[in-house]
Amino acid sequence: MRTPVIAGNWKMYKTARQAAETIRSLADLVKGVQGVEVVICPPFTALAAAVEAAKGSPVAIGAQDCYWEKEGAFTGQVAVPMIADLGCSHCIVGHSERRQFFGETDATVDKKIEAVLANGLNCIACVGETLAEREAGQTFAVLERQVRNGLSRHLTSARLVIAYEPVWAIGTGKTATPVQAQEAHAFIRQVVAEAASPAAAQAVRILYGGSVKPDNIATLMAQPDVDGGLVGGASLDAASFAKIVRFRG
Ligand code: 13P
Repeated sequence: MRTPVIAGNWKMYKTARQAAETIRSLADLVKGVQGVEVVICPPFTALAAAVEAAKGSPVAIGAQDCYWEKEGAFTGQVAVPMIADLGCSHCIVGHSERRQFFGETDATVDKKIEAVLANGLNCIACVGETLAEREAGQTFAVLERQVRNGLSRHLTSARLVIAYEPVWAIGTGKTATPVQAQEAHAFIRQVVAEAASPAAAQAVRILYGGSVKPDNIATLMAQPDVDGGLVGGASLDAASFAKIVRFRG
């Protein structure tokens, strides 16, 4: 059985102080929850405060991006060992906003995943089609390309988690229907089976992301290939994110 993962991606929101406050509230609200891994990914500047605030709670802390070199003359970049040194256990890679606005490609996704896993962290690697790609009937082709070119060298790692985030569902309030999510997740699992092995496909957690809210998480989680959520907007508020973590009711 795959243990569900509910991860919050705070994007470019919250100062260190705000992050610590929210995480303390969240830690209280999710106390005693069993059988689900809880992760919060604040901005880099709030990671240290977030780790401190999460101490002794089941909330794990992750970064939203990283650079693949371990150090060097790379102004503005943050290396994985630096993220690990803060006490973080996770790192998101390949988010569509990084692909869209910051030149992330399948090739850079591959290098970043390698760095994250080599440093002992868990990696949440994102894939997903744009609205234009979906309307052109290219959804499966895009997902297959992103998994094969970006993720395929890492699919047998137990520390790799895949997030399916249809770009048209991010921040739009338009959630993929449970049927659309299931179809994409089952397809991704099939690609993992072909690119790695049936065992890797059965083991890998595939999270859904895109307008996940307290009132739609349960039906998404009821789909056989949906193993969790990557939550943006609804993760910024501790009460709303805690409801998502408690999707079983
Ligand atoms: P929203 O939940 O705000 O749609 O964001 C999803 C997302 O991009 C999480 O990484």
